[in-house]
This record gives sequence, structure tokens and C-alpha cells, in this order.
Amino acid sequence: DTTLGRLAADTHRYFGSATDNPEFSDAAYLGILGSEFNSTTAGNALKWYATEPQQGVFDFTQGDQVLDFARRHHMSFRAHTLVWHNQLPDWLNNGTFTADQLRAILKKHITTVARHYKGKVYSWDVVNEAFNEDGTYRDTIFYRTLGPGYIADALRWAREADPHAKLYLNDYNIEAIGPKSDAYYALVKSLRAQHVPIDGVGFQGHLALQYGYPDTLEQNLRRFADLGLDVAITELDIRMYVPADATKLATQADWYARVTKACLAVRRCVGITVWDYTDKYSWIPAVFQGEGAALPYDENLQPKPAYTAIRDAL
Ligand code: XIL
Repeated sequence: DTTLGRLAADTHRYFGSATDNPEFSDAAYLGILGSEFNSTTAGNALKWYATEPQQGVFDFTQGDQVLDFARRHHMSFRAHTLVWHNQLPDWLNNGTFTADQLRAILKKHITTVARHYKGKVYSWDVVNEAFNEDGTYRDTIFYRTLGPGYIADALRWAREADPHAKLYLNDYNIEAIGPKSDAYYALVKSLRAQHVPIDGVGFQGHLALQYGYPDTLEQNLRRFADLGLDVAITELDIRMYVPADATKLATQADWYARVTKACLAVRRCVGITVWDYTDKYSWIPAVFQGEGAALPYDENLQPKPAYTAIRDAL
């Protein structure tokens, strides 16, 4: 019997799922994670708050746990993420730093974390969510203090620390062509022109039935691929207002199939990752009031119509 991972591998791609350390006590969950998927991402374990909880004090316990599981199950590992404005440790959020100080902090963080995982990860989301919806730079501690050059610096430091990892920029609401994805298009073009190391763009893919399907997804993936970059769907989930019903689940299944086909249609689309695979552990209900049922397996670890639709599309 085949799996999503094996079907994706048939076209040299991966089909992955994010996971999180608290879920490692759920044996039934782990059984499916390790058999159905050929790639994984740590949902939280490699975020700054977890890897450098005190300044200069690094902790790789949680990341190592997820990586170890991936290796034992022959899954590739997308590492997420080195630079992001969310889930920063208090010492960084609450501190005041000069540009020189923050640059040194950033360099040390990237170098230490990427070096720890050197040679062991498929890719790094080096910078996550750098732009606003209108395509302007997001006003983060990094942008505010260091200016837009922090992105090129981060990419260079990551390359130095782990020359074999594919280096990505990653964001949400860039699935369709529009101001935000245009900003990435312009940025990666200019980074390439300056010989800054950048290998791919990650399209998170946090979709919601009420906002409509991003019809230009395939065209958008293709324009980035045509720049010589890899592209990937990195955090796919398709939420709806709950309770779910047969109609909503059928639309969701259709969307999962369409995203899968869009990736398959673009040669440089290397794979798809769902942001965990079961509604049991989805981040959606905690963050989006009244929404949920976003993943291809239900809360009892049973495949939903979306699962079958992905399989048929692969
Ligand atoms: C989410 C995690 O899944 C949650 O457990 C956590 O509480 C918040 O972050 N975009 C990203 C991910 O890049 O890191 C986020 O993950 C979801 C949105």
C-alpha cells in the first residue's frame, strides 16, 4: 500500500507534515507521521525562544528530538526558522540594542543554530514573514534596527554555517500574485543580482474557505521557479468555520487537490508540507476564533476527503 510520501517521491518531491514535541507522547499519531510522510518540519522547536532562551545559551533538545525522529523514518527535514518577529525570547523582545549589538546577536544566533544542524537538514527558512500585506517591509526589531540589509546578511551567515542546506524566505498570503508576492519577486531578483545566497521561496499556504482559492498559485510558483529558485508549499492548511459539513469538506478536498496539482505542474516545486496532518493538533482553533477542521486527517486520526483528494492528485 502506498503513501503520500511515496507518491510524491515518484516525482522526486516530498509530501511532509509539521509536528511538535508535545505530540511525541501520542504513539498512534507518530505511527502515521513516520509512515505516511517523507518530510517533516518542527512546528516550534527551532524558533528563537526555544533555541536561545537566554542570551548566548542555546538549547537544541526539542529540535534534536524532531530531527532524530525524521532520520529514523527516512524523512527529510525542513528547518523553521532562524529569523522571525514572533516567538522571540523575552531577553530579545524586551532588550534595547544598538545596530552593532543586534547584528552581532543575529549573526551568533544564525551561526550557532545552523552550525548545530549542519549537513542534517534539507532546508532552512532563514527569514520568515518579512513583508506586510502591501509589500512594504514589516516593522520588526530586525528591520527597525538593521534596515532591509538584515535579510541578505542572514542568508550569507546561514550559507556560511551550513553550505548544503537550501536557504528559503518564507511567508503567508503570497500564494496568489499580488503586492506581497510581488515584493518577494523583486527582493529575490535583487538578491540574486547581488549574488546573495537564496535557493527558494516557501509559500506557507494558510488558506481559508471564506477567502476563496488563490487562482494564480500555479502561475505565481512558476514565475519564481523561472528565476532559477526552488519553490515549496511549506505550511499548508485549509480552514473553515466549524462545524464542518460534507459540502465544506468536499470544497476543502478540492482545494487540497488543486494545490497539489499546482505544485506538480511546476518542475521546481520540490514539495508540500501540511502544518501538521491531523485536526487533533492543528494550530488553527487556538488562533482563529470559530475556525478549524483544516487538515487532511480528522481529530481521531482518520483520513478525510482531503486525504483521498491529495492521493488522487499525486
Ligand atoms: C505556529 C505554531 O503552529 C503554533 O503552535 C504556535 O503557537 C504559533 O506558531 N506561520 C508560521 C509558523 O511560520 O511558525 C506558525 O506556527 C504558523 C504561522
